[in-house]
Amino acid sequence: MSGCCGGGTGIPSCERVFDDRTATADLRRLRRNGPPWATRALIDDLADGLELDDATVVDIGAGVGAVHLALLERGARAAVDVDGSTAYLAAARSEAERRGLAGRVTHVLADATAAGGGLEPGDLVALDRVVCCYGDVAGLMRAAAALATHRVGLVYPRDTWWLRTAAAIANPVMFRRSSGYRMHIHREADVTAPLRAAGFRRRSARDGFVWRVETWERIGEATATA
Ligand SMILES: C[S@@+](CC[C@H](N)C(=O)[O-])C[C@H]1O[C@@H](n2cnc3c(N)ncnc32)[C@H](O)[C@@H]1O
Repeated sequence: MSGCCGGGTGIPSCERVFDDRTATADLRRLRRNGPPWATRALIDDLADGLELDDATVVDIGAGVGAVHLALLERGARAAVDVDGSTAYLAAARSEAERRGLAGRVTHVLADATAAGGGLEPGDLVALDRVVCCYGDVAGLMRAAAALATHRVGLVYPRDTWWLRTAAAIANPVMFRRSSGYRMHIHREADVTAPLRAAGFRRRSARDGFVWRVETWERIGEATATA
């Protein structure tokens, strides 16, 4: 049986935006089409060159579970799904059950920046399209780095003028509709500095029109506070 969230607390803005309706739609899309290109690239690059047999995965903001479920199917031993949305955790749990993987996933309802100390570190830590949902990018990336014993992989929006413009136009509408949610286009340096400071080196990077996919590998211990 899959582990669960106990008395964890979601993230209010995520609970409002990532609700049952969007979770159901995302799960249907995943089942019909498989993961989108950036998620597939993230899965491939996180696993690249590794024997996954005994690996553990922490999937921060896992949504309906595409990344950790794919890594479990490739041989990883166990995964923790930590998400700020109750609806997405439930969707990921149902997909794990459908694929016969529920016994290898623990689902935690939490803000990863607050839950960090209470979570077991993993070999691989994923943040697929999570950085853009969260304002405190330094805190989020520090939490990811602290949880990763080997690699961190992430998908985040490219730091371009047209994406900043699109976010500036869309955010007032999103903010009103969801009482407080906004999309963040963080500066690349702000996303990556906490990883460098924690002893990681970039291993791969790929750009699509909107999304950037990067993996980082631990080469040492933390050297500074980002
Ligand atoms: C845009 S969705 C992406 C879901 C999935 N990774 C994907 O790419 O399809 C962002 C997810 O991250 C979660 N999230 C955002 N910030 C988080 C945080 N600080 N801790 C845990 N979950 C977070 C949200 O609840 C939501 O499920």
